Amino acid sequence: MLKERSDSSGTRSGARLRRLRRTDAIREILSENRLHVSGLVAPIFVRDGEHVVEPVEAMPGINRHSVDTVSSYVGKLTDEGIKSVLLFGIPDSKDEAGSGAYSSDGVVPRAIRELKSQFPALVVAADVCLCEYTSHGHCGVLDGGAVSNARTLPLLAKAAMEYAGAGADIVCPSAMMDGQVLAIRDALDESRYEETLLMSYSAKYASSFYGPFRDAAKSAPAFGDRRGYQMNPPNSREAMREIDSDIKEGADIVMIKPALPYLDVISKARSRHDVPIAAYSVSGEYSMIKASSAKGWLDERGAAMEVATSIKRAGADIIITYFAEQLAVWLREEQ
Ligand code: PBG
Repeated sequence: MLKERSDSSGTRSGARLRRLRRTDAIREILSENRLHVSGLVAPIFVRDGEHVVEPVEAMPGINRHSVDTVSSYVGKLTDEGIKSVLLFGIPDSKDEAGSGAYSSDGVVPRAIRELKSQFPALVVAADVCLCEYTSHGHCGVLDGGAVSNARTLPLLAKAAMEYAGAGADIVCPSAMMDGQVLAIRDALDESRYEETLLMSYSAKYASSFYGPFRDAAKSAPAFGDRRGYQMNPPNSREAMREIDSDIKEGADIVMIKPALPYLDVISKARSRHDVPIAAYSVSGEYSMIKASSAKGWLDERGAAMEVATSIKRAGADIIITYFAEQLAVWLREEQ
């Protein structure tokens, strides 16, 4: 007869879960999820001009770089083991049609060519959107005061083609226009860019956490907001529809953004799909940890590692984060 188990904790199940946590080594071998530097992507702001390394005030440690200074920064990232960057362009001049986004001598194509010549093995991803390039700050072109889906799609496709032509490994549509993945995939496939990966910002929410980025990119909308195209925060079933349709349209990697307030969406997507999932831990997620740790209210390293781990645990394969460089250093120190 089996002896009924009871122990000093008074439970009868015999489960003493604290045994699993007794020493560093035990905790380590039993760790269910591990952060690794190779899954981290560093976002980078590239701007027009020369010799520029310009701090982003609301994002301590993050700078805007001109094309001639970006390589020395990326050299530091690659030395730390970062294998991928995501580029955002900040042009000197903007116009109604966002033409800087799809011109071949625009800041992003120039940065891509520079980085691919200096770091051939670096995985270069480029954000595809009009908001950093339009005078009104919306993600597409306007028609009677509203963003026109139909007129925006060919411009996004044109931008993606320019970036692919400059050597980008991944193009990342983030405008939240319906059909943007299909429009870009078709354009890429019709020319000679079948090999270019497409990572779609599939579930991109209309979030307050983009505030510091809009400062950095000077891309806040001049009127209205983005709630007419970005997702409504209470909805996660709708996020699954966005993701499903992007996969059908040909996305290779789907993204959920922001990350921390939408861990449930990451987890739901993970249990539904086998495609690679990226999570974008956005500017506000970075700034809130930076600001509170600067005040001594949070331990920066602990908080940043915990947040990144939670994103991994939720099911993301790739984490796009402004902490990429620091995480890489901390992960190396932990080895
Ligand atoms: C749009 C874009 C935005 C971000 C990434 N791509 C801004 C927006 O939608 O307003 C935000 C990233 C961040 O906050 O870190 N091109």
